[in-house]
Amino acid sequence: MIAPAMAAEFDDVAGWTADAVEHLGERYAIPAACRGSADPAGLAWLAEACELTAGTRLLDVGAGVGGPAAWAAERFGVRPLLLEPMPSACRAAARLFGLPVVTAEGGRIPLRGGSVDAAWCLGVLDTVQDKAAVLSEIHRVLRPGAPLGLLAVVARHPTVLPAPEGNLFPTGRELAELLTGTGFDLIERIDRPGGAPLSWTRRAERAAATVAAAHGTDRAHSLAVRQGQSLTRLLAAGEISMRLIHSRRR
Ligand SMILES: C[S@@+](CC[C@H](N)C(=O)[O-])C[C@H]1O[C@@H](n2cnc3c(N)ncnc32)[C@H](O)[C@@H]1O
Repeated sequence: MIAPAMAAEFDDVAGWTADAVEHLGERYAIPAACRGSADPAGLAWLAEACELTAGTRLLDVGAGVGGPAAWAAERFGVRPLLLEPMPSACRAAARLFGLPVVTAEGGRIPLRGGSVDAAWCLGVLDTVQDKAAVLSEIHRVLRPGAPLGLLAVVARHPTVLPAPEGNLFPTGRELAELLTGTGFDLIERIDRPGGAPLSWTRRAERAAATVAAAHGTDRAHSLAVRQGQSLTRLLAAGEISMRLIHSRRR
């Protein structure tokens, strides 16, 4: 069962974010809907590493509200397919970007084997118990030799305390072993990516402030805020860090 704080963050706040964007305007959509901490530089690194081009069929596993996939469609002309288990997030992504969305878990992807050209999975694995099941399913639906781009939150030590509710951060070594064990070759990685321009951060923050103004007294909002603060503290203390990974299906 999904932890209440995660349901709040990934479902309730996801839906409210779409409302906020509709109120603020279209140019807020992508920054507000990138909810796995990917920014333009990180997304560009992943898109170039995965050699995305116009027409690439890109599966985004745990796509959330769809910001990264919409960014890839807008900048690289890919044809995204979003997979996301949270119903409100799916509705929000369809509403904001009109992209095709499948409501499903990464551990059971309802697609034919070898049917996608590339996959992304951004900020998802640390929220999932059975990471090998998700990676194995991504492996099955990718065609041989296809790229997988990951944004992963990795732990410095095997146990992170106090972990935000529902999070299970792998260490860098555990993640590398998981990838190898599920049939991926690790091509390249960069640590601690970051540095969104102010114009992007301001739009994301304004959308978050609009959500807070409308729902700040809601329990789901408080839970999601606490979850975010806990992650920020661990990042600042160096207990966890962001990593971008380019791997390839064997
Ligand atoms: C931190 S958010 C990242 C969302 C999106 N990838 C982004 O970068 O904006 C993590 C997402 O993973 C999704 N998720 C959680 N468990 C999952 C699972 N078993 N399979 C696929 N997605 C999952 C959550 O619902 C949530 O939308």
